Amino acid sequence: MSVRTVVRGGLVVTASDEIHADVLIEDGRVAALAATGTPAADAFTAERTVDASGKYVIPGGVDGHTHMEMPFGGTYAADTFETGTRAAAWGGTTTIVDFAIQSVGHSLRSGLDAWHAKAEGNCAIDYAFHMIVSDVNQKTLKEMDLLVEEGVTSFKQFMAYPGVFYSDDGQILRAMQRAAGNGGLIMMHAENGIAIDVLVEQALARGETDPRYHGEVRKALLEAEATHRAIKLAQVAGAPLYVVHVSATEAVAELTRARDEGLNVFGETCPQYLFLSTDNLAEPDFEGAKYVCSTPLRPKEHQAALWRGLRTNDLQVVSTDHCPFCFTGQKELGRGDFSKIPNGMPGVENRMDLLHQAVVDGHISRRRWIEIACATPARMFGLYPKKGTIAPGADADIVVYDPHAEQVISAETHHMNVDYSAYEGKRITGRVETVLSRGVPVVTEREYTGRKGHGVYTPRATCQYLN
Ligand code: URP
Ligand code: ZN
Ligand code: ZN
Ligand code: ZN
Repeated sequence: MSVRTVVRGGLVVTASDEIHADVLIEDGRVAALAATGTPAADAFTAERTVDASGKYVIPGGVDGHTHMEMPFGGTYAADTFETGTRAAAWGGTTTIVDFAIQSVGHSLRSGLDAWHAKAEGNCAIDYAFHMIVSDVNQKTLKEMDLLVEEGVTSFKQFMAYPGVFYSDDGQILRAMQRAAGNGGLIMMHAENGIAIDVLVEQALARGETDPRYHGEVRKALLEAEATHRAIKLAQVAGAPLYVVHVSATEAVAELTRARDEGLNVFGETCPQYLFLSTDNLAEPDFEGAKYVCSTPLRPKEHQAALWRGLRTNDLQVVSTDHCPFCFTGQKELGRGDFSKIPNGMPGVENRMDLLHQAVVDGHISRRRWIEIACATPARMFGLYPKKGTIAPGADADIVVYDPHAEQVISAETHHMNVDYSAYEGKRITGRVETVLSRGVPVVTEREYTGRKGHGVYTPRATCQYLN
């Protein structure tokens, strides 16, 4: 139960404002804000007071891209909804949007039901779903309308992974046309998977089996080509487009050009592309497998374009694409053949901290941190202003963040169910101290006080970010 609470004395930071204010919480929602020290704030009375002096008071993070328990390459992502949402809470994220999966030959409905069954009663924080569409046909297209009506308002398609999740251009166009009619948002995994598979086969035939070749065959140009094609198909369909996990300079350029034309084209990047590189993929003794994800990590030179895109709003969102596989027993499936390494990296716990470090390092402003990690993902996926901001009426998903605390990221201390950290040893200035989810303390001064089943399914409106 949520008790009447006041968060006192912090610097409230949202995407639009920074004010020293006290926040009153009633019935799980923000009831009022008032400038600290004023009679209005002093009149706030509550059963619980959270002291936030010297700290930031920020909206809980919204991670618009996670894969709990995702089946991939003969195994499953190692975080369940229980462990993954607990780790998210530890890291200051209070909402995830996970990807339900349609298997080929099955309905969207059966895929969505399966994901509801995995998540229900298990989550520490609130959750919602996108739908991965792997089998576009007349029945699927009709089902898309029904899903939009019930709050699953975005659909991921893959130009990569032929034979698994892959859609061809005709299937993509049909789904985009449907989305143009029903208000859905198409999310695209933009890599030319047909061409990549040729390069994979040729690399393996040359004996190039190490993890670093994953990065070499999944070329930046093939991300850019697919991004360009997705943009044109969306333009033909008259549908908005959201490109997931953008990693290449050339792909950012495609998004920038489309946005300069005024199109509703959006881009997401992830911390791994901002902070890691092909140097990690090249780590010896198969350690590079820890960094195998798709799109792949790029040479360091690409990072500048991603940071610039985040500053110019050619990239709007940073999500994690959290899809953890343990090194032992899972990543190891690809020893001797990089194409058999399960694709994906852990990160749901680290996103808010890494992006705060980006504030400290001067890449982005404090308000932009909140915009790309909380407010815009909430708007993009129809959760605003319930999620993503601190304002009267919003869910009291609030993080007290200590901007001066020092920490070192490590698998020894993280809460994700995975045996390594992609950021092992990285120093971060800033740390989550207390996390409220709908007014209920999930983390209290660095102690876990949450519980499985507190988090509820949250249906979504359609995209609130269109031009
Ligand atoms: O490597 C990744 N990104 N794994 C998760 C699935 C996807 O394509 O997002
Ligand atoms: Zn201050
Ligand atoms: Zn993807
Ligand atoms: Zn993903």
